[in-house]
Amino acid sequence: MKEIEKTAIEEISKTQTQEELERVRLKYLGKKGIITEKLSGLSKLALPEKKMVGKELNIIKKNITDAIEKHSSEIKKNVLSDISKNVIDTTLPGKPFDFGKLHPLTQVMNEVKNIFVNLGFNIATGPEIETDYYNFTALNIPKDHPSRDMQDTFYIGEQGNNGTMKQELLLRTHTSPVQVRVMENQKPPIRIIAPGKVYRHEAVDASHSFVFHQVEGLAVDEDVTFADLKAVLEIFVKKMFGENIASRFRPSFFPFTEPSAEVDMQCLICKGKGCSVCSQTGWVELLGCGMVHPKVFEFVGYDTEKYTGYAFGIGIERVAMLKLGIDNMRLFYENDMDFLSQF
Ligand code: DAH
Repeated sequence: MKEIEKTAIEEISKTQTQEELERVRLKYLGKKGIITEKLSGLSKLALPEKKMVGKELNIIKKNITDAIEKHSSEIKKNVLSDISKNVIDTTLPGKPFDFGKLHPLTQVMNEVKNIFVNLGFNIATGPEIETDYYNFTALNIPKDHPSRDMQDTFYIGEQGNNGTMKQELLLRTHTSPVQVRVMENQKPPIRIIAPGKVYRHEAVDASHSFVFHQVEGLAVDEDVTFADLKAVLEIFVKKMFGENIASRFRPSFFPFTEPSAEVDMQCLICKGKGCSVCSQTGWVELLGCGMVHPKVFEFVGYDTEKYTGYAFGIGIERVAMLKLGIDNMRLFYENDMDFLSQF
């Protein structure tokens, strides 16, 4: 046994790396190591012998363990001094790194903003935490409207002093409340877009997310007509998707506009011939719009005889998916480098 100890200590002292040292440790003290096997063989011995040999083995085990520890810290010390002796070649080139760039949604958002800024729109902003009044009431969305349902809206309770709800707060479900805030603070003429995040209480799938982006538009003045709205949105579609892309206005309903419309654009995939993306219709839905409802003007104290206006709301994820040919909205939020680096 003394012989084994001697060899082990010798082998330990010869190792130069932690890996080599570990190999020696396993050879003697590992599960199937020489010392370990001897220790488990003890049970076969008679009692007085067992005691004696066991004691001896444990001393050897401790000596080997101590030697390993001591040698391990020596190896560490050597490595450090090697570094200080310039064993590391600092003239070698560094690891290559990627340049950052704007997220595809930010790129599309910027493009949309640019188009409208070039048409004379200013950029307005509003809070993402809104009151029931701005998000719904002042937009002529009555108390029993389905979009007020808890399923669609994230409500936030703010406690008053006596434990009651002080004010009904929520995460805005659209950028339309910015229309109201702008009109409360400004007299016509108004020409703004309001880009930003909106929130809906819904399950995430390929075309839904609980947070997404919209760009709201609002123009109010004397003699603003539906023709102005049509012109502006047609220009938007052409600038965004190409000069030869047709768009059409389809009657629709929104509580805050009358008349209301949705704009469809020619399907980019089949160029209007009909395919699976456009359900064989040749058209895909793009945005909602309309002439500002007189009720909304009344809420902000505008003279409904004097002023007219149009409004629109564009879903940025939708525009980005069509423009970049992406069929799953979740890709925008997963921050997968292989996906992001393509744009
Ligand atoms: N706020 C609507 C939504 O989120 C979109 C919308 C439709 C905005 C028509 C408008 C509009 O300004 O006129 O679904």
